[in-house]
Amino acid sequence: MAGAVQSVNFSKALPMNGGHGLYSYSKNSTYQKKVIVAVKELITEAIAEKLDICVLSSSNTICVSDMGCSVGPNTFVAVQNIVEAVLNKYQSQGHDHSRLPEFQVFLNDHALNDFNTLFKSLPPNRNYYVAGMPGSFHGRLFPNDFLHIVHTSYALQWLSQVPKEVENVSSPAWNKGRIYYSSAGDQTVKAYADQFAEDLDCFLHARAQEVVCGGLIILMVPGRTDTSPHTRVFSNISYDILGSCLMDMAKMGIISEEKVDSFNIPIYFSSPQELEATVERNGYFNLERLECLPLEKSQDTIPQKARAVSYHIRAGLEFLLKEHFGHEILDELFDSFNEKLEKSEVFQLGLTYSLLALLKRKET
Ligand SMILES: C[S@@+](CC[C@H](N)C(=O)[O-])C[C@H]1O[C@@H](n2cnc3c(N)ncnc32)[C@H](O)[C@@H]1O
Repeated sequence: MAGAVQSVNFSKALPMNGGHGLYSYSKNSTYQKKVIVAVKELITEAIAEKLDICVLSSSNTICVSDMGCSVGPNTFVAVQNIVEAVLNKYQSQGHDHSRLPEFQVFLNDHALNDFNTLFKSLPPNRNYYVAGMPGSFHGRLFPNDFLHIVHTSYALQWLSQVPKEVENVSSPAWNKGRIYYSSAGDQTVKAYADQFAEDLDCFLHARAQEVVCGGLIILMVPGRTDTSPHTRVFSNISYDILGSCLMDMAKMGIISEEKVDSFNIPIYFSSPQELEATVERNGYFNLERLECLPLEKSQDTIPQKARAVSYHIRAGLEFLLKEHFGHEILDELFDSFNEKLEKSEVFQLGLTYSLLALLKRKET
C-alpha cells in the first residue's frame, strides 16, 4: 500500500475575503481579471505551439489544475481560455468532434478558501468536469504523472511565510517601522527575494512529480522589469502607504508600535531574471516563453482609482490584518489609506507589470 499522502511544505493560509460582499475578492478582483483576459491570445498561441497532443492522456481526458484559484470568478475565465485553446489545437490538427478530449479541472487553493462561494458560482454551461483540491501548492497535491496543464495566476507572489530573519529583532533584516520590504534595507529585500526563490522551487519540485513529461505550466505573477526598482512598483508603493497609516495609528496610541514592527506582508514582486534563474536552478522544466507585460492605465478619476485600490487591497489583506491587529481598526485604517492614496503620487509613478511564463516538463 502507498504511504501517507502529505504536504511536506508548510504554508501559512491567508485566504482572500470570501462571499460577494463589499470587500470580497469576487467583487474586487477586476484588475486580475483584466490581465487574464489580456493574455488569452498569448496562451492560445503558446498551447498551439508547445502542447504535444501525443503526450496527453491515452484515455482522452485532459487534467488541468488552476492553482491559487480563490473564490472566482477569474478562475473560470482562465480555465475556459485553456479549454478553448486546447480544443482549437485539436481541431486545427483535423480531429473530428467525436475524438475531442474531455477535461477534468481541479480548482486548488488553501483549505480556508471560500470553496462554497466558488462552487456556487460555477458557470452552468461549462464544458469541463470540475473538482476542488484543497492544500498548499508549495507541496504535493496530486499523484505522479497526473496533470497535463497547470495554470496559476496572481498567486505565487504570496510567500509561504514572512522570511524568518525579517521577524528576528537581532537580525540585520529586521523590518522595524515598516510592514513591507520595498523601501527597507538590502538585507530585508534579500530575505524576501530568497524566500520567493525557495517557495517557487518548492512549487516547481512538487509539480515536476505531478505533471506528465511534455505537460505545461502557465504561470502568471505580478512583477517588475529587470531594471525597475522595487520602490517603483505600484503595489509596493501602496503597501508602503498602508504601512505609514499603521504607523500613524501607532503614534495616536490606537495600536502599539511593536505590533507594527512584528507585522509584515508576505508578498514578493519578482523580476524576469529572478524567475528565470529559479526555473533553471530547479531544472525540471524548460522555460519556453517569458514575457513582462505592462498593464494598461485605467481612465478612472483619482478618487475612483484610490477607492478601487483600497478595496482591492482590503479584499486580499483583511484576513491577515484582522488576525494581527483585530477587526476594530479595519475601517479607520482603510479610510486613512484611501485618503493617503488620493494625495499620493502612486497613480503617476507606480509601475504595473505581469510576468507570464510558459514552462514545459522536461523528458526524464
Ligand atoms: C490574488 S488571489 C488570485 C486568484 C485568481 N488566481 C485570480 O487570478 O484572480 C491569490 C490566491 O492564491 C491563494 N494562495 C496563496 N498561496 C497559496 C498556496 N500556498 N497554496 C494554494 N493557494 C494559495 C490565495 O489563497 C488566494 O486565493
